[in-house]
Amino acid sequence: MTVGILGAGTMGAGIAQVSAQNGHETILVDVSQGMLTKAESSLDKILARLVEKEKISPDDKINIQGRITYSTEIADFKRCGIVIEAIVENIEVKHQVFSKMESVVSKDCILASNTSSLSIASIGSVLKNPSRMIGIHFFNPAPLMPLVEIIPAVQSSAETVSYSKSLIDEWGKTTVLCKDTPGFIVNRVARPFYGEALRIYEEGIADFATIDWAMTEIGGFRMGPFTLMDYIGNDINYTVTETVFAAFYYDPRFKPSFTQKRHSEAGYLGRKSGRGYFDYAEGAVLPEPNEDLKLGTEIFERILVMLINEAFDALFLKIGTRQDIDLAMTKGVNYPKGLIAWADEKGLDWVLEKLQDLFEEYGEDRYRPCVLLKRMVNKGN
Ligand code: NAI
Repeated sequence: MTVGILGAGTMGAGIAQVSAQNGHETILVDVSQGMLTKAESSLDKILARLVEKEKISPDDKINIQGRITYSTEIADFKRCGIVIEAIVENIEVKHQVFSKMESVVSKDCILASNTSSLSIASIGSVLKNPSRMIGIHFFNPAPLMPLVEIIPAVQSSAETVSYSKSLIDEWGKTTVLCKDTPGFIVNRVARPFYGEALRIYEEGIADFATIDWAMTEIGGFRMGPFTLMDYIGNDINYTVTETVFAAFYYDPRFKPSFTQKRHSEAGYLGRKSGRGYFDYAEGAVLPEPNEDLKLGTEIFERILVMLINEAFDALFLKIGTRQDIDLAMTKGVNYPKGLIAWADEKGLDWVLEKLQDLFEEYGEDRYRPCVLLKRMVNKGN
């Protein structure tokens, strides 16, 4: 089966690599010849490194490269069984390309989008046969991150969903099914990891280094929120938060932070600009955290219960199953434990009490405990 990928940027190039490594003829299309050339040479380097590390043989490298065709013509998708779009995050542009793609592909070809924040139903609305539309959301870098969110649109047929899910499973990825709602599972449930950390800083409870220390050393997270935001880029992370906030009709739980906005506006984007919450200039010394165990535990527990609350809300509103919500956070963003399993371990009544204390103290909707959590505690499980 031939796989088409539209967009040869960060995500498209990575998805094309995964497809070719799994034995598919792969057609990678981009409007920019420059991006195609860049994708081709960066794949050459990535595969050369895999050969060096003896993960693949020199013949594998030649075969993988031989399976990818680089093109600027959407018409070249005509032989594809599925096309995954990974172009600029703009609904008008996505509408144009999906109409155009449908006019060249076969009647059975599935059309998928890798969008992080747009509605799959909206993208599919321009299709004559919208039952072939689906969301297939990879994480960056696509060849390394195991999680892929599969997002059926209201229009998707059962065949489109099952075919897409089995294909990505065959590629060795961990797939989770999620509802077509803002942020899907991961980008919705993870918001408090950034938002609550920023809020704790803004209240003057602790500085960036101390909050990061609490989350890594006490919480067991692989990276602290500020280091992670610097890694993702404050501009990108802020935009995701703003998009999710607007998409949830301005629910205060998702309110963006001025601290992040100002860092982004100042050009303190993170690693890529040499400075974010931390300074990445050569010779710069990272600030020391305040390793106060009581303070650190308070910070960690406050962020943890906010994350758990979000996971329960996603479960309550059937954004994903309990198992998929936990898998999404461990495989998509490397959380040390699934949040619902973590809540069970800590005790649901402990989680609810912490949230109720915050809600009572602040009187802000941001801290309102999820109804499902309350019901489960009331029922005694
Ligand atoms: P990117 O900016 O690296 O690449 C986008 C590519 O699309 C560029 O090569 C551009 O030339 C091409 N392009 C733009 N308009 C086009 C058109 N009309 N026809 C053909 N090619 C066109 O973007 P990136 O980061 O790869 O993101 C792509 C999509 O994947 C977006 O929808 C984004 O939300 C989503 N995504 C991004 C993630 C990330 O971490 N960067 C993670 C998961 C999803």
